[in-house]
Amino acid sequence: MYALNTLAGRVAFITGGATGIGLEIATQYTRLGAAVVLASRNQEKLDAAVETLSKAGGKAAAYRMDVRDPDEVAAAIAFTTERFGALDILVNNAAGNFPCATATLSPNGWRTVIDIDLNGTFYCCRAAYEALKVSRFGGSIISIITMNGVTGWPNAAHAAAAKAGILSLSRTLAVEWGGDGIRVNTISPGPIGDTEGVQRMYQDTGKAELERKRVALGRFGQRADIANAAVFLGSDLSNYVTGDNLIVDGGRWLKYVAA
Ligand code: NAP
Ligand code: COA
Repeated sequence: MYALNTLAGRVAFITGGATGIGLEIATQYTRLGAAVVLASRNQEKLDAAVETLSKAGGKAAAYRMDVRDPDEVAAAIAFTTERFGALDILVNNAAGNFPCATATLSPNGWRTVIDIDLNGTFYCCRAAYEALKVSRFGGSIISIITMNGVTGWPNAAHAAAAKAGILSLSRTLAVEWGGDGIRVNTISPGPIGDTEGVQRMYQDTGKAELERKRVALGRFGQRADIANAAVFLGSDLSNYVTGDNLIVDGGRWLKYVAA
């Protein structure tokens, strides 16, 4: 268990923070003392998440925006620094994905996922840079990717390419912005139970059991497993860690199981 003051005084901006893995990160961040801004498209989900976090005693606010729009992203970051006085942690968690054979993937389908995942992450990093640079803790950028971006992902080429791009961007920024005290890391979750990602990619396609067998530990992960990694990377506990890709996948990427 982390000490309850692990993130005391920090301000985090979490895209896609109202659902799934993003909401679990927001929950742990507020529990450990951070203020959070959740940013995504759906106002109802944002309001519900802020209400839940606030009722539990957390400092949380929402900003409705689409990560594909750089002006909306910039406005959301400005809202964060105005509301909470700083920005210390950026969590690029928002993503879009759907299973589709590449031969039938439309150009707009490809563009949509690249736009949300890769371009959206760039817009957020770019917009957050000035605030992260003056963070009194040293800024931390954490992007949620997947090792499928490294190995390739049959029937999800768009998401795999986008996540690989985020990995490359993160390594570049770790070096470019290291002198500004900003650490830049990625987390690669394996299949996390009870999430939209696993529902779409494995449950709906009838591949959940095969995917479970592919995990060395033999089970899906939990959202808390990823939130724990995000706490580590957002806190002083990882002060000398940058340019890393923290794999939290139960050994999924190392194990081969034929379909
Ligand atoms: P999720 O609940 O569907 O989360 C995706 C979030 O992104 C939603 O809150 C959604 O909110 C937001 N979003 C989507 N498009 C957006 C846009 N254009 N602008 C702003 N926000 C947008 O799915 P999840 O499974 O928790 O996935 C979270 C992250 O973990 C993703 O980066 C995913 O690739 C990664 N990941 C998940 C798994 C897994 O097993 N679940 C494994 C590896 C990696 P709105 O609808 O309100 O916009
Ligand atoms: N199979 C094939 N193509 C698909 C598809 C599917 N299941 N779902 C969407 N597309 C295509 C659409 O047909 C469209 O292309 P077209 O104009 O050539 O027809 C393109 O993708 C954009 O679809 P649209 O529904 O207009 O996009 P959107 O911006 O409203 O939504 C998505 C973005 C498609 C990624 C949507 O699924 C979403 O909002 N996802 C967020 C949640 C999520 O994906 N969570 C899992 C994270 S791992």
